[in-house]
Amino acid sequence: MTATLAVLPGDGIGPEVTAAAIAVLTATSERFGIGLRFEEALLGGAAIDACGDPFPDETRAVCEAADGIFLGAVGGPKWDRGGPRPEAGLLGIRKAFGLYANIRPVAPILAVAESASPIRADRLRGVDLVFVRELTGGIYFGEKSRTPDGAVDTCSYSTAEIERVVHRAATLAMGRRRVLTSVDKANVLETSRLWREVTERVVRTSFPDLRLEHVLVDAMAMHLLARPADFDVIVTENLFGDVLTDEASMLAGSMGLLPSASLGDGTRGLYEPIHGSAPDLAGKGVANPCGAILSAALFVRHTLGRDDAATAIERAVCDVVTSGPRTPDLGGSAGTGDVTSAVVAAMAEVARSAAT
Ligand code: NAD
Ligand code: IPM
Ligand code: MN
Repeated sequence: MTATLAVLPGDGIGPEVTAAAIAVLTATSERFGIGLRFEEALLGGAAIDACGDPFPDETRAVCEAADGIFLGAVGGPKWDRGGPRPEAGLLGIRKAFGLYANIRPVAPILAVAESASPIRADRLRGVDLVFVRELTGGIYFGEKSRTPDGAVDTCSYSTAEIERVVHRAATLAMGRRRVLTSVDKANVLETSRLWREVTERVVRTSFPDLRLEHVLVDAMAMHLLARPADFDVIVTENLFGDVLTDEASMLAGSMGLLPSASLGDGTRGLYEPIHGSAPDLAGKGVANPCGAILSAALFVRHTLGRDDAATAIERAVCDVVTSGPRTPDLGGSAGTGDVTSAVVAAMAEVARSAAT
């Protein structure tokens, strides 16, 4: 059987890190005997330039026909001056495929985090977090309006939207340390008070062996830096998850290291690094491809169900980040292509030693 991956390179460094992920996926599929083909389509600014629509029907059709979707990044200053926004394409695709749970693991590789992270090394030991960010609701998708002297964004959540993402996070937590941290702003927001109530109920009725704690988002922003090793699975709403995961990337040492999987109820997921299009780096060939490559590994695990191949990619990235070559964000001077070739070689080595 041959699986299809829809590939949406997007804008800025998106195409550069996407090429890296595809190179690693190609090598891995050959090595592990996985049938895989790629179907490229436009999203974001590239799609606006081509046809005026950040999420064209043709792209939707390519994604619908695919088993999984890979995205580089969208956006950039070129599209910041009015007109359709590239980000609308990304929000559209998440909503269109019901990808309500955005899984963002943060597992610092100590060999590099000790020098690249602004956080003291002793606080990074034992840090192994998984954020589960609600992705298709909240203030991102509420009604918006604009008048000459004001603007409104609406944050709304239904019970069902909270239930399904909490259920997902709790299931994940049960396979790990059996602790779930739910982050909200229940001292101020009505949506957060509902979030807390629903979370309590889901855990009480379906996960009686799970320890649940609630933390207010402002305090969480502080705890993440002060005692990150105390947390395991963290579930939160869309906007809080967006902000906290960029913060958490500094535990690993760079935005360029963090992958994500956006999942719905089926096996079709959207896999993307958490970083953006990094206009400051675009075209220079120095973007760190590891977040994109690790996102490809999540595709291999979640959509293709090939834990062996996914683990080989993850080990290879860990080896390369540990011993080099490294891109400038991690203190090195290597290019995106150097790191990619090193990961391909390391993956082959991992596969060889696993076979013997
Ligand atoms: P960004 O993530 O693009 O960049 C933030 C900082 O991190 C920059 O200094 C950048 O150089 C660095 N960085 C990011 N990725 C890196 C990598 N792979 N290797 C090394 N360094 C890396 O965020 P921004 O500058 O706030 O946003 C730029 C554009 O990207 C905006 O238009 C925004 O909307 C968009 N964006 C898109 C996505 C997405 O497509 N998933 C995510 C975030 C931001
Ligand atoms: C992310 C990005 C997106 C978000 C933007 C580009 C719409 O920041 O994937 O983290 O806010 O979800
Ligand atoms: Mn973000």
